[in-house]
Amino acid sequence: MKILSIIGARPQFIKCAPLSRKLRQNHEEILLHTGQHYDSNMSDVFFRELDIPEPDYNLGIGSGLHGEQTGRMLFEIEKLLIKEQPDFVLVYGDTNSTLAGALAASKLNIKVAHVEAGLRSFDRTMPEEVNRIITDHLSNLLFCPTDAAVINLKKEGITSGVYNTGDVMVDALNYNLNISKEKSSILTDLKLEKKQYLVATLHRPANTNNCKNLSSIVDALCNSRWPIVFPMHPRTKKYLKEYGLWNKLCENVKVISPVGYLDMLSLMANSKKILTDSGGVQKEAYMLDVPCITMRENTEWVETVEDGWNVLVGADYEAITDAIDGFEGIGIKGSVFGCGNACRKICDVLE
Ligand code: UD1
Ligand code: UDP
Repeated sequence: MKILSIIGARPQFIKCAPLSRKLRQNHEEILLHTGQHYDSNMSDVFFRELDIPEPDYNLGIGSGLHGEQTGRMLFEIEKLLIKEQPDFVLVYGDTNSTLAGALAASKLNIKVAHVEAGLRSFDRTMPEEVNRIITDHLSNLLFCPTDAAVINLKKEGITSGVYNTGDVMVDALNYNLNISKEKSSILTDLKLEKKQYLVATLHRPANTNNCKNLSSIVDALCNSRWPIVFPMHPRTKKYLKEYGLWNKLCENVKVISPVGYLDMLSLMANSKKILTDSGGVQKEAYMLDVPCITMRENTEWVETVEDGWNVLVGADYEAITDAIDGFEGIGIKGSVFGCGNACRKICDVLE
């Protein structure tokens, strides 16, 4: 089979690494990078560390308003799909690259397979929610990471082509955790002691593009009694500067550039708690037995909250501060994200 995989943003590189490896054992894969993320620490580092093959195409789309960015992707992807005529287009997650890929393929009657299908936050102010809903409704094969995702699809009338394969991020984490232990020196480099620091990541528009929310989060982080390592997404840095909040970040908050996956795994696995608004990081915290404080009002990864390992605090100063001081993960965990064979299951279904 000829499969054309479309990726473009950081979490998609991480998700694609194990699946691409598996797919290439028996099939031809064409890799298309939209160029949505382009800084070397948001893109190249993942290809290098995770042995992802060089993309066959890099569209170099870059940043822009939603319509502009998605529209430019659509225009370019369509031309390449006509040229390549794949049997399947594989899209990941919920970014603008996902939406553009699914839309271009479906208009050409090329079958779409969606990895990480069925997730819903039920919050349409999130650009990702719109991308997820449309992508799922255009997809022929829907690879769900959880039972909750299958149920979400059923409620929207999507039952055909739906498979709970487990989450490819479990495969990625299992494959890379020991490699990270061997290769990452970030704890020593940053002079961090195991379980004596917190990790923070932040990039959702609801937090970064809102001065009040961003300011409240900065104040809460500065109030932490533990040091916080903060690999900062470029969007967050941009808005902290734009809103004049950059100088409010106190010494306790150690801002670093975005890190590669191996360093990120080491930072997370050895941290006391994680603060985030990322989807992927919430799951990784759960898999690594680290309590997670999610700076959002809702989550797609409801199991992490139900099992007692994740708490939703929004951008509320008091709630964040209370969780930093008092929230501990205590619940019993199931294998809600599967057992690390999602890539094999996805290949089986595709075949
Ligand atoms: C995107 C996805 C989001 C995903 C996130 C993963 C959409 C709508 N959003 O959000 O679902 O969780 O990626 O990280 O697709 N920038 C750089 N260098 C880069 C990339 C971005 O400086 O390499 C800056 C630019 O100022 C850009 C901003 O970050 O405008 C936002 O980038 P964009 O890709 O539009 O959205 P993300 O917030 O990264
Ligand atoms: N990540 C990383 N380096 C960083 C921050 C995050 O490797 O500096 C990884 C993280 O471990 C997870 C993925 O990137 O696997 C999550 O991506 P992100 O938070 O950008 O997007 P989301 O999951 O929210 O879509």
